[in-house]
Amino acid sequence: EPEVIRDKAAMRAWSRRRRAEGKAVALVPTMGFLHEGHLSLVSAAVAAAGGPVAVVVSIYVNPSQFAPTEDLATYPSDFAGDLGKLAATGAVAAVFCPPDLYVRGSAGHPVAGVSGGAVSCLEDACGHAHETWVRVEQLEKGLCGSSRPVFFRGVATVVAKLFNIVEPDIAAFGKKDYQQWRVICRMVRDLDFAIKIIGSEIVREADGLAMSSRNVHLSCEEREKALSISRSLVNARTAALNGNNHSQQIKDQIVQTLEEAGGQVDYVEVVEQESLTPVKRIDRPAVICVAAWFGKVRLIDNIEIQTT
Ligand code: PAJ
Repeated sequence: EPEVIRDKAAMRAWSRRRRAEGKAVALVPTMGFLHEGHLSLVSAAVAAAGGPVAVVVSIYVNPSQFAPTEDLATYPSDFAGDLGKLAATGAVAAVFCPPDLYVRGSAGHPVAGVSGGAVSCLEDACGHAHETWVRVEQLEKGLCGSSRPVFFRGVATVVAKLFNIVEPDIAAFGKKDYQQWRVICRMVRDLDFAIKIIGSEIVREADGLAMSSRNVHLSCEEREKALSISRSLVNARTAALNGNNHSQQIKDQIVQTLEEAGGQVDYVEVVEQESLTPVKRIDRPAVICVAAWFGKVRLIDNIEIQTT
C-alpha cells in the first residue's frame, strides 16, 4: 500500500529519508482519475532508475493551469479508485495529494494577467496572493498555448513547485502532452533542476484513441467520431514516410478528416520535435500535433515521425 502524504513538509522529509536509504526518488505528477497511461509512467520511472527507487505519484488538480472558462469544476476525480490502481502496481511507495499548493489571498481582486489580460482559475479565486510564475517563453506559445494562454505558465509553475517539494532525481511525463513534456525539459535545463526527465510513449485504447482522463466525458457516438484523430495521424505518417511530406497537404488532409467526422479543429500543426517550430516539409524528425473538440470535450494527440 502506498503511503498517502498530504503535507508539503512531510513530503519533503519522506523524500529525504528515501534518499538517505540509498534510493533514487522518482516523481510522476498527475491530476488523478488515473488510467493505463498514467500507470505506464510509473513503470517508465522504475526502468529509468535502473536500481533502488522510491516512486511518488502526485495527484493534484492544479487550478493555475485552467482558465476560468475551462473545465476545472468538472475535471473528473476518483481518489479511492486511483489509490487502488496505484497499490495494484506494487511499484508506488507514496501518493502525494496536497489539499492546496498555493498561498491564497482574499478573493475577487482584479489581476493583471499575462498576454491579453488572460487569467487562470487561481488568480480568479485569490488575487495577488501568488505572484511568482515560471514561463518558458517561446515553447509555451504555439499549439495548445494559442488557445490556452495561461496553461503552460500554470503547468511549469506547479511542476517547479512539485520538484521543490518532492526533490526527485527522476520525473516522468507522457508524450501524449507533447508540448508539456518539451516545456518541462526546457525549464529543467534553463533553471538547472538536477532532475532526469523521462518522456514516455503514448498509451492508447485498443482502437487507437489516446487514453485521457477527459475521455470519460465523451458519449459513445462522440468517442467513435474521435477515433478520426488517431486514424488521421497514422495515415499522415504513412503518407509522409512514402514521400508525401508537404506539411500543408498533410494538415489539410487531417483537418478534412476531423471535420468530416464532426470534430471542431483547434489546431493541426507539423513541427520540429524539440523546438516545436513549424516545418514546411517533413525532411527531419517532426511531430504532427492535433487538438480538436468532439462535443464539449477537447482532445489532443500527436504522432512522431522519424526520418533518417
Ligand atoms: P494529467 O493529464 O493527469 O497527466 C499526467 C501525466 O500522464 C502527464 O505526463 C501526461 O502526459 C501523462 N499521460 C496522460 N495520458 C497519457 C497517455 N495516454 N499515454 C501516456 N502518458 C499519458 O498532465 C497533467 O496531468 C498536468 O498538466 C500535470 C503535469 C500533472 C501538471 O498539473
